[in-house]
Parts: sequence; structure tokens; C-alpha cells
Amino acid sequence: MMRKIILSNEEIKGICKRIGKELTIKFQDAPQPPIFVGVLKGGVPFLMDLVNEVDVPLVIDFIQIESWSGLESTGKVTLKRDLDSDITNRDVVIVEDVIDSGLSMQFLIDFLKKKNPRSITVTTLLDKKCARKIPVQIDYAGTEVGNEFLMGYGLDYYDLFRNTNYVFVPEMTEVHQWDEILKRK
Ligand code: IMP
Ligand code: MG
Repeated sequence: MMRKIILSNEEIKGICKRIGKELTIKFQDAPQPPIFVGVLKGGVPFLMDLVNEVDVPLVIDFIQIESWSGLESTGKVTLKRDLDSDITNRDVVIVEDVIDSGLSMQFLIDFLKKKNPRSITVTTLLDKKCARKIPVQIDYAGTEVGNEFLMGYGLDYYDLFRNTNYVFVPEMTEVHQWDEILKRK
């Protein structure tokens, strides 16, 4: 099996160090600890590796939206789980695995803005720029990628296979095997 690796774990670690350093500088003198919001479920591995590289007091929270099924974006975004924290007047850092069409991130930004945060910073590991349907705010991106279906390190196929420490393009033969597993679930 030959998986095309898009980001190795070493590269991901390098990205976390770089963005972590920039966020440390950005929030050094923040009036209150920033709230890092991981976008469930895909954003979790990146959030956890990223916060290890941020050297300021911070709060971790999660939000869950639904926007994607299988190989294609559905274009419809809904909220599944809201934040625990009150973000009024707080600095919020959204941490996402990938920004594709931009619809999910725009939904999130609009939703969180209604809660009157002090600021919103958008961080994504992967930027699928060429797939953008609407322009969206991105402050920090790990790397730009092409319009390919990616998996691993949080990215899933019907909720499966988020558990690799690298990002890859699956082979179609692999995907067919997974379809068999999914039928048995
Ligand atoms: P958007 O709303 O089209 O920007 O989609 C963003 C969401 O789609 C992300 O949070 C991912 O969950 C999912 N997604 C986008 N591209 C991929 C991919 O290549 N593999 C797996 N999930 C993806
Ligand atoms: Mg996601």
C-alpha cells in the first residue's frame, strides 16, 4: 500500500512550533487568557499539539458543527455542540483541521461573533484554497493543499481513520476496503 503523504508528523510538529510561537507573541499581553476553540472532531489532534507550543495561560474549549459527509462537502452547516465558556470580551482562537469551501468556518465565525468576543483568530492546519466557495478569514495556516480528499491526523472518512499522526491521500483500493468495514458497522 502506497499512501501519498501530504504532511509527515515531523512537518506537523514544525508547523505547531511556528504557529505556536506566533500565537505566544500575539497573546503575551492579552488582558485575559485566550480561549482556544477546537472544532470537533477533526481539529482535536492539531489543537492538542498546537497548545503545547503556546507559552501563555490559555483556556481550551470545543465546539462541534456538521458540514461534511463522506467524500464531499454537503454545503449545509449546523451546530451540534456549543461552547462551555462565556467568550464575551475574550480573545478566541478557532483551531480547525482543514478549510475547504469555507462554509463551515464562515458559519463558525458568524456564530461566535454574536457572542461578542474581543477578537477572533482563525488557525487551520490545512488550507484547501482552490476549493474555496466563499472568501473566509484565515490568520494562520499550516500549509496550502490541493483539492484532494485527505485523511489522518483528525481528518476522517465517515468518522473512521482520524488516528494517524500524519496526513495522507488514501488510495481508492483502500477506500473500497473501508466501505466494506462501514457496511459491517
Ligand atoms: P468546508 O465547510 O467545505 O470548508 O469544510 C470543512 C470541513 O470539511 C472540515 O472541518 C472537515 O471536517 C471536512 N473536510 C474538508 N476537506 C476534507 C478532507 O479532505 N478530508 C476529510 N474531511 C474534510
Ligand atoms: Mg471538521
